[in-house]
Amino acid sequence: MTGSRLLGTGSALPRRIVTNAELATRVDTSDEWITARTGIRQRHIAGDDETTATLATAAARAALVDAGVEASSIGLIVLATATPDNTFPATATKVQAALGCQGGVAFDVAAVCSGFLYALATADSLLKTGMARRALVIGAETFSRILDWEDRTTCVLFGDGAGAVVLEAPSGDGGGAGILGTKLHSDGDHHDLLYVDGGPSSTQTVGHVRMRGQEVFRHAVVNLSAVLKEVLEDTGFVPADLDWVVPHQANARILDATARKLGIAPEKVVVTVQDHANTSAASVPLALDVARKDGRIKAGDLVMLEAMGGGFTWGASLIRM
Ligand code: ACO
Repeated sequence: MTGSRLLGTGSALPRRIVTNAELATRVDTSDEWITARTGIRQRHIAGDDETTATLATAAARAALVDAGVEASSIGLIVLATATPDNTFPATATKVQAALGCQGGVAFDVAAVCSGFLYALATADSLLKTGMARRALVIGAETFSRILDWEDRTTCVLFGDGAGAVVLEAPSGDGGGAGILGTKLHSDGDHHDLLYVDGGPSSTQTVGHVRMRGQEVFRHAVVNLSAVLKEVLEDTGFVPADLDWVVPHQANARILDATARKLGIAPEKVVVTVQDHANTSAASVPLALDVARKDGRIKAGDLVMLEAMGGGFTWGASLIRM
């Protein structure tokens, strides 16, 4: 059975852009090093008046406009983030209040960079049960607030932003459009390769991102190509059938290596890492929105979303637009 249908997308970015050259005035790095190793040229960094909730709300509003539906028709909000405004309540409930969605259900999911894939799968499953007719699925982050700005091995890699989609429960009249298949995975054995060294229950601090980059890189290419294959096999497609791949935007080299491993043409891969850097849970819906709004992704296209993040967590979802 085809899953929930995607009615619209939206995104939001902080006003302030920080280039590699500006970063090089603060830490011992260079535009050449960052560009060559990651493909990143700039990132957006949240100002004092911008938070995960404000970015998420702006992205959600844009998605509602794109979908042509009212906030009052949304019965479910699932928001993926590793950088909530508060330890509790869920940032999703702040978005719910800001949008004026009365009633319904709103909660956060934590799967770091794979968060949007986890949120999408959760919303799709709940919509199929009849819990709600329409959902907002949001990935939103202010990773700049958990970076160690003196650690050049991590602070150059991340940025802030939000992306959102409006999903509608399957109704049988979508003409084949909708989520065709999803696979999620987690492996808690790799906690120490990518984590935040703080939290309410351990240190009573927010903590900073810590990462063993080369090892994460190796796992990312292996896990992402495996999960893509799994979703293709389950749904009866082959890589050549894909119109677009919208990957988590961590590093241009990971995107290249994964596409090469599967024999996917590089021009079918949506790449925004140069403009946004790694926005964690926001990166997939942000890239999806960019590619829809600039006319690359069209109705009827077969699109693979994929991501991997701390935990490790990883997953992929195949959608007929
Ligand atoms: N500027 C200049 N030099 C640097 C910087 C920097 N910002 N950071 C590290 N270096 C130096 C290192 O100190 C090292 O110097 P040395 O050779 O004198 O010891 C040298 O550059 C090479 O460092 P490596 O770590 O070997 O560089 P590598 O080619 O592996 O690139 C990178 C590092 C970009 C982090 C890469 O490993 C990577 O992208 N890994 C994946 C990370 C990732 O994508 N994480 C997120 C995925 S999951 C998620 O999104 C949460």
